[in-house]
Parts: sequence; structure tokens; C-alpha cells
Amino acid sequence: MAVAPMANDEAANAIRTALFERFGERFAIDPKLTGLDGLAAIAGHRSHRRYAPRAIEPELVRLLCACALSAPSKSDLQQADIIVVGDAAVRAAIVATIPDMPWIMDAPLFLVFAANGARLPLVCKQHGKPFPNDHLDQFFNAAVDAGIVMATFIHAAEAIGLGCCPISAIRDRPQVVGDALRLPSRVIPVAGLCVGWPAQTGEITPRLSLETTLIENGYGDRDITGGIDAYDRRRAELRPYRRQRNVDRWGEVPLYGWSEDKARQYAEPTRTDFGRFVRGKGFCLD
Ligand SMILES: Cc1cc2nc3c(=O)[nH]c(=O)nc-3n(C[C@H](O)[C@H](O)[C@H](O)COP(=O)(O)O)c2cc1C
Repeated sequence: MAVAPMANDEAANAIRTALFERFGERFAIDPKLTGLDGLAAIAGHRSHRRYAPRAIEPELVRLLCACALSAPSKSDLQQADIIVVGDAAVRAAIVATIPDMPWIMDAPLFLVFAANGARLPLVCKQHGKPFPNDHLDQFFNAAVDAGIVMATFIHAAEAIGLGCCPISAIRDRPQVVGDALRLPSRVIPVAGLCVGWPAQTGEITPRLSLETTLIENGYGDRDITGGIDAYDRRRAELRPYRRQRNVDRWGEVPLYGWSEDKARQYAEPTRTDFGRFVRGKGFCLD
């Protein structure tokens, strides 16, 4: 899908439409602002899980990775890596841990964004310096950097008409994924990313209202239950869930909104061994 540059008025309209669908709110947009087409691409984001049978050229992959790795990095520590999973056998080993997401195998490109906490202690050692900062903040910095690099990759890819779907499910069985990718000590997978030319237009997923998630100065006493309830209703109207999760345990309810779905999702234990895996990889989480 080619992305034609938009005229400013067209871009302002596209932003207004996308954000109304996303937040149920109208935004004023000054048409004199420049770069509105870039903003329109961000506002219109949607994850894509179906791809056209069209390859992504290696030079383009390299270009997008370079753009992604141009993202800001905590203290310029540069603790994020991108793994291009080009080997079908390696990808199959990862996919075998996630049987319910066929889009991972279907995507023309699959990447893994990794937090790399190995380089910093290495340079400290090389320069004969101690490394007394081996604690949770180090892990956090590396994981956050990896997330920022992934988000930047998504924006870069979407800017040229590619579609993406992040995959945190690669952390369901992190040891298998770690072995398949031959991850060294102090390197852990943060998320995978399917990338391809979208086969469908896709849909905007509504988000919680800004009243719920945009905070002015401080929190204070806030009751967000009304905001969540309103979101559940808006979402059920615009993007109803195709099926209710775990009906055997929780039955069917007439209004199945976002909060019911997330409550059901997190009523089951998931990734309870991830901390053990991360510690086993040599990170200190204290
Ligand atoms: C860190 C992260 C991990 C995700 N993991 C998965 C995943 O394992 N499988 C999947 O199909 N989608 C995954 N997603 C995509 C989300 O489901 C999607 O972003 C969300 O439903 C909102 O939809 P949208 O991106 O179209 O706005 C992930 C997204 C993020 C940011």
C-alpha cells in the first residue's frame, strides 16, 4: 500500500477523524502547522496481522532498523538491539511456542527487540572501572530503550505504508526463544514484531479517554470507574469483541467491554517464570 503525501487540510481531517474514533473527542488542529501528514500517520495507527505476499527488500529492512536505532537512548547507553529473524527454522522454533498466532509465520519479516545489558559492564571492565549499578534500574533502562526502539521502528515502517504487529507472546516461553536466538548473558527479548505490506486496511482501536490517561500535574483523588465504563460502552459499539474470553469459567455477559476482557485475561496466571528467566540471564532485579 503506497502512502501518498497528504495536503495539510486533508491531513488535518484525517487526524480529526482518527482521533475521534480513537478517543470519542474532537480536537482542534491548526492547519498552519507543518508535518501534519506525519501526525496523521501516527494518529491513524493500527496493528496489522494479515500481509500481502510481497517481500520487504533487505536494504529497506536495514534502513528502517537504522531509523529505529536513531531513537533517543537513556544516557546514550544504547542498550537496545534488533534481531532480524531471517532463518525460517529459527522463526519456526519461536512460533512453536505461540501456536495461536499464525500471523507470526505469515509475516514477510519478523524481528525481535532485545534489551542488552551486557555492553555496559563490558565497557566498564575494558576501562578498568567498577560497575556498582547492577540493579533493577539497569534492567529497566535497557527494557525501556528496547520498547522505544520498537515504537520508532513501527512509526518508520508505517510512514512508508508497512503494517506491524508487536508480539509479547515471545515471552511466554522465554527459555525456548532465548535458546533459538542464542541470546547471550544479560540479553533478553522484550517483544517480537511482525512486519509486512498490509493485506487489509485494518481498523482503529479506540482507547481510554484522555480524561482517564492524561494527567495534569498530579493525580489527587480521581474516580476513573465512570471513564472506564464509558469506554467499555463506546468500544462495544465501535469495535465489539468477536468472542468472550474463557466462557467456561466466567460465562457470557451481555455487555462485554474492554474492562471485562482485561479482567478475564489477567485472572489467569501468565509468564510467572519470566522473572526467573531474566535473573537467570544475569540481570539483578533488586
Ligand atoms: C508490547 C506489545 C506487545 C504486544 N503483543 C502482542 C501479541 O503477542 N500478539 C498480538 O497479536 N498482538 C500484540 N500486541 C498488539 C496489541 O494487541 C495492540 O497494539 C492492541 O490491541 C491495540 O491495537 P492497535 O495497535 O491496533 O491500536 C502487542 C502490542 C504491544 C505494544
